[in-house]
Amino acid sequence: MSSAPRVLFVTSEIAPWQKTGGLGDISAALPAALASAGADVRILVPAYPALTAAFPEAREIARMAPPAGTLPASRLLAATTATGMPLLLLDCPDFFARLGGPYQSPGRRNWPDNALRFGLLSRVAALLASNDSPLDWRPDILHCNDWPSGLAPAYLHYLYDRRGDAACASVMTIHNLAFQGLFPAQRLVDLGLPEAAFVYDGVEFHGQISFLKAGLQFADRISTVSPTYAQEIQQDELGFGLDGLLRYRSADLRGILNGVEASWNSATDPYLAQRYDARHLAAKVKNRKALAAELGLIEEAAAPLLAIVSRLTEQKGVDLVLAIADQLLDEPPRAQLAVLGNGEAEFETAFRTLAARHPGRVAAVIGFDERLAHRFEAGADIFLMPSRFEPCGLNQMYSLRYGTPPVVRATGGLADTVTDCTAQTLAAGSANGFTFGPPDGASLLAATRRAIDAWHRPKLWRRLQKNGMAADFSWAKAAADYLDVYRAARHRPA
Ligand code: ADP
Ligand code: GLC
Repeated sequence: MSSAPRVLFVTSEIAPWQKTGGLGDISAALPAALASAGADVRILVPAYPALTAAFPEAREIARMAPPAGTLPASRLLAATTATGMPLLLLDCPDFFARLGGPYQSPGRRNWPDNALRFGLLSRVAALLASNDSPLDWRPDILHCNDWPSGLAPAYLHYLYDRRGDAACASVMTIHNLAFQGLFPAQRLVDLGLPEAAFVYDGVEFHGQISFLKAGLQFADRISTVSPTYAQEIQQDELGFGLDGLLRYRSADLRGILNGVEASWNSATDPYLAQRYDARHLAAKVKNRKALAAELGLIEEAAAPLLAIVSRLTEQKGVDLVLAIADQLLDEPPRAQLAVLGNGEAEFETAFRTLAARHPGRVAAVIGFDERLAHRFEAGADIFLMPSRFEPCGLNQMYSLRYGTPPVVRATGGLADTVTDCTAQTLAAGSANGFTFGPPDGASLLAATRRAIDAWHRPKLWRRLQKNGMAADFSWAKAAADYLDVYRAARHRPA
């Protein structure tokens, strides 16, 4: 393969237009980094209303007849982002021109036809990677991300490989093993897959169809978003039933840490009250004052402001924060708390209630607000991220870059980016935050108290902040690693 592979990057989210979490960020940043590294990348993404509105000039470049099964006809629209990234918008209004999220209705119910919606995305991805493609541009690499494009390598295998014409290699990236795209077996016919695909070394998973398993089974190479998570998913505890398959494929599996986008830079961030860098950390406090004012918090100079920006789900361990909140707020060493997030109704209500019980000392903003997320990262003193599991995690990296040392559970990408503050790590210059092990309130409380104590020691705190701000989370490094994975994928045995 030449050093400049053609890559079809398939995703169900892309920031800033359609994003429910880190996948959206990565789908914007990684293709751009790959392009900077010389790859010829096109991004295939459903033509959601936010995308058709953002790219009214998008032009039709292909019409695709209904594939086998009950999948409908669709079109491809081509557009280019302001930064020059080519987009292929999969236009199928019945499937994608809906108000709501990519996977759920405005009332937060999974769309009942998700198997077909993302089956179509996967099917078209495989088509574009095959000799039947309606386009002249043919990828060397089909890069799938999470379950919504997981069926694409299976389509390549069952519909094209057998005819020996698929020169395209495939890579499956796991951003979160917990979401597997499980659907009833009856969908097999609708999806246009042969009956023979419904076997344990096919797309079958405990009597259902699993999109993610299909990708893990048939992709030439597998990656996930941190080295530690790559190990963890091969074990029972975090393997979500797929650890056996991942162990079987461990020689083909690699962990590559996500990067941080240039827009997360406290020295240039347009959303901050006051910009700052590692040499001007005193200026950071203006952001705390501004954030407190914006959120209606009273100014308590002797208490650090703890912050959370997160999906409010069990994965993120927000229940642990709720369990110890009163102790953190009331018992010395006291802290204040600001939460930005949305997710499960029970957690949204619990944080609202907590804020109501501690007026001026707790703020809970229930919603998704990109700009406010930036102000949280800059305005907080300490960032909390007690995830039960975390494939990579972006917010702890943002907080490190913003001089807001994080308290995290030592798992997945959190373990790979946060170094616990001890005498040894301080001496070594690597300490940049606080970690804990067991996923329980007492362990989180102990780690957070260590952080609060350290915050009360300004010289020590400055060192932690500077160590974190010096970290290199560059996308260039990640892109080079993906190019390695692409090379390996293309050298698969025939
Ligand atoms: P995940 O993808 O599992 O939710 P990540 O840490 O990888 O976790 O990515 C989360 C992304 O979503 C980050 O860019 C973060 O800033 C953003 N985010 C999460 N919740 C909110 C929110 N309520 N408002 C704004 N941004 C949010
Ligand atoms: C998932 C993971 C998160 C990761 C993101 C991007 O949403 O939960 O840890 O950072 O994908 O890879």
